[in-house]
Amino acid sequence: MSGRVAIVETPRLIIGTWLPTDRDLFREINADPKVMEFFPFRRNHEEADAFLGKLNGMMTMEGMGFYAVVLKQTLQPVGFCGLSHPNLPGIFPDDAIEIGWRLATRFWGNGYANEAADALLGKAFRRRTVDTVVSFAVETNHRSTNVMKRLGMRRMQELDFNHPRVPDTHPHLKRHVVYAISRQEWQARRPA
Ligand SMILES: CC(C)(COP(=O)(O)OP(=O)(O)OC[C@H]1O[C@@H](n2cnc3c(N)ncnc32)[C@H](O)[C@@H]1OP(=O)(O)O)[C@@H](O)C(=O)NCCC(=O)NCCS
Repeated sequence: MSGRVAIVETPRLIIGTWLPTDRDLFREINADPKVMEFFPFRRNHEEADAFLGKLNGMMTMEGMGFYAVVLKQTLQPVGFCGLSHPNLPGIFPDDAIEIGWRLATRFWGNGYANEAADALLGKAFRRRTVDTVVSFAVETNHRSTNVMKRLGMRRMQELDFNHPRVPDTHPHLKRHVVYAISRQEWQARRPA
């Protein structure tokens, strides 16, 4: 797998570092209006390339960062999944950990986001410092909230918020719903 470093593997996926050859896929997911339906911005090719160039440097071996999600069978990249700090002061504590995902539309409907996220949650909860992982999405982004539900995340209605970085030009993208899962809840879902 020339050069790609896997952080975690699942039955169907390799979750790992990015390669220069992932550029076309990364451009695709950043420009596709269907993928970006719930984001108030798009990235053109140059911006996508610049962002991709930074991602490997933002990763830690404990699982923080936005990782490439790659099909084991074909070594095709399908999107990303990752853990990050939300950086939303006053809404989440500074050390909160968020999980997120984005796949190219042609790979939707196969359970890949679920499988990658479940593996990364495992990574997060094996760190003794991580007790809870949150996830949030525009309230109408049901594909994303369905991933959260399938992962066993709990709806935290009292934490729902209006995203401060969504401009007033996109009022329908402001309201975000929050889900969370604790280490104990995640462990309780593991087979004995
Ligand atoms: C959010 C997103 C990653 C979800 O993709 P997805 O394909 O629906 O989610 P999964 O990869 O977990 O696949 C689940 C689907 O695959 C189906 N599936 C097929 N085989 C499966 C398998 N072996 N295991 C689990 N699910 C499987 C499930 O039934 C489900 O389909 P359904 O929603 O029609 O019931 C995708 O819609 C996306 O990239 N959206 C744009 C970016 C975005 O909004 N990101 C989130 C921002 S908060």
